[in-house]
Amino acid sequence: MPDVIGIRAATAADGEAIDAVIRAAFAGTEFGHQGEAGLVRMLEGDGDALVSLVAERDGAIIGHVLFSRMDVEADGARLSAAGLAPVSVVPALQGQGIGDALIRAGLDALRERGCAISFVLGHDAYYPRFGYAPDLAARFASPFAGPHFMAMMLDSDAPWPLGGRADYAPAFGRMG
Ligand SMILES: CC(C)(COP(=O)(O)OP(=O)(O)OC[C@H]1O[C@@H](n2cnc3c(N)ncnc32)[C@H](O)[C@@H]1OP(=O)(O)O)[C@@H](O)C(=O)NCCC(=O)NCCS
Repeated sequence: MPDVIGIRAATAADGEAIDAVIRAAFAGTEFGHQGEAGLVRMLEGDGDALVSLVAERDGAIIGHVLFSRMDVEADGARLSAAGLAPVSVVPALQGQGIGDALIRAGLDALRERGCAISFVLGHDAYYPRFGYAPDLAARFASPFAGPHFMAMMLDSDAPWPLGGRADYAPAFGRMG
């Protein structure tokens, strides 16, 4: 990541700049819709945003990542869990490690909060480098089960649960 770029926690004042980054990042992707900016607003409104970070260059926000609260049960007990979505970098600056730095900083912030597990639904060529594994997610019943559904224990020494269920925050069910 270029050294002139800083990463910090998002504040309420960043809302419009974050919307703009998300819209720019997702315009032209295979996802083909613009629902992610609304999703971030809904998660924040519901109090389900756990970690929201921005990448900044010269005072301008050029990247964002959100981790939101999930409802996860593992081996019969609740497990504190966070879903990674969405992550966005403005198109002109993609491929320079900014998304990587945002995700790693977010995972560290989750560890500091004592969060046990994180899930992501995304590209299987990208997320395994952070520790996400489809084999762990496959142990959890979820509407998103499949090769793109991945999970990681935030303490890499923690044993993998044998099984359970994983549900994203309610806002995901309200996405347009
Ligand atoms: C995904 C995204 C946040 C990554 O941020 P970034 O700063 O561009 O990524 P980094 O520079 O940290 O990493 C680049 C790597 O990610 C890979 N990558 C980026 N987007 C990818 C995608 N959509 N599918 C597969 N791999 C992707 C690149 O191929 C590159 O891989 P390499 O290191 O093996 O060459 C950014 O590309 C983006 O905003 N994309 C559009 C929105 C999006 O698709 N978000 C994720 C939804 S699952």
